[in-house]
Amino acid sequence: VPIAVVHEDVLDNDWAGLYEGLRGEESYLEVGGGPILPMTSASSFYEPVVPPGLVDLGLSFAALQWLARPGPGGTGSALFFDQLKGEDATAMAEQAHGDWSRFLELRADELVPGGRLVLDMMGRHEGGTSTGGKLWTQVRAVVDELIDEGRLDGSLVDGYVFPAYERTLDEVRRPFGEDLGERFELEHVALSDSETPAWQRYEADGDADVFARAFVGFVRAFSEPTLRAALDPDGATLDELYRRLEQRAAGDPSAFTFTVHVLSAVIVRTGAAID
Ligand SMILES: C[S@@+](CC[C@H](N)C(=O)[O-])C[C@H]1O[C@@H](n2cnc3c(N)ncnc32)[C@H](O)[C@@H]1O
Repeated sequence: VPIAVVHEDVLDNDWAGLYEGLRGEESYLEVGGGPILPMTSASSFYEPVVPPGLVDLGLSFAALQWLARPGPGGTGSALFFDQLKGEDATAMAEQAHGDWSRFLELRADELVPGGRLVLDMMGRHEGGTSTGGKLWTQVRAVVDELIDEGRLDGSLVDGYVFPAYERTLDEVRRPFGEDLGERFELEHVALSDSETPAWQRYEADGDADVFARAFVGFVRAFSEPTLRAALDPDGATLDELYRRLEQRAAGDPSAFTFTVHVLSAVIVRTGAAID
C-alpha cells in the first residue's frame, strides 16, 4: 500500500531542513514495508492543503497558535494578545475563534469519515497566565525604548499585534458546539505544562549567559519574520531589539521563564464524506 505523507507549511518555510531529515538515517523512508511517498504542500493551513477526502490521519504540532493575520490595530504598544484589554481583547479572541473554526472546516473536507486529527498547540489555563506573557512584557519594554529613541515607528507598532493566540480548553471546545459539531467529534483535549530546553539547562548549570543566548535565539527564530515585515523592513533595529533582550535575559533569567502550556487534542471526522 503506498502511504503518502504530505508535509505542510507556508511557502516561505525553510524546506531544506525537511529534505535533509528525509535523507537521514532516522528518516521514515528507511522503514521497511513501503513504499512511503514523501510529498509537500506549501500552503497555509487556513487554505485547502490537499484535495478533498484524502486524509486518514492529520498531525500538527506547535503551530495552531499562529493566526492567519496580526491582531487588531490601534492598540498602542500592546504587542501580544494578553496585553489587550476590553473590546480589543474580545476582538482578538473572536479572530482566533474564526481561524480555529476555518482550520477545522477545511480539514473536515480533507479527512475521510472516521479519520482523525491529532494536534497540539500552545494553550492557556482558564484564568492563568499565557506562555509568552513574560517574554512579551520584555519585548514591549524594549520596543517602547526603541520608539522613544526614534528607532522604531510608533504608528507601525500601534497597528500591530503579534499573530498568535493561546486558546483555553473552552475556546478549543467552542466550534464543536456550533455547526462543526455535525462533522467532528472532540475525542480528547487536555493541557499539560513543559519547560523549554534552554530553561532546563539553566536550572541544571546556572549559566545565565548561555541561557540568554539559547532562549533569545529560539525567540528570534519564531518572531523575526513577522516583526520585521510589520515594524522594521530593513531589520537593523530588530538586531538591536534581540541584543537588548539577550542582555536583559542574561541579567535576570527569571523574567523570561516560558512555561509552555501544551494543549493537545484528538478530533474524529464523523458523518458523510463531504457535506
Ligand atoms: C513552532 S513551529 C513547529 C514545527 C513542527 N510542527 C514541529 O513540531 O517541530 C510552527 C510552524 O508552523 C508554521 N505555520 C505558521 N502558520 C502557518 C500556517 N498558516 N499554515 C501552515 N503552517 C504555518 C510555521 O511556518 C512553523 O514552521
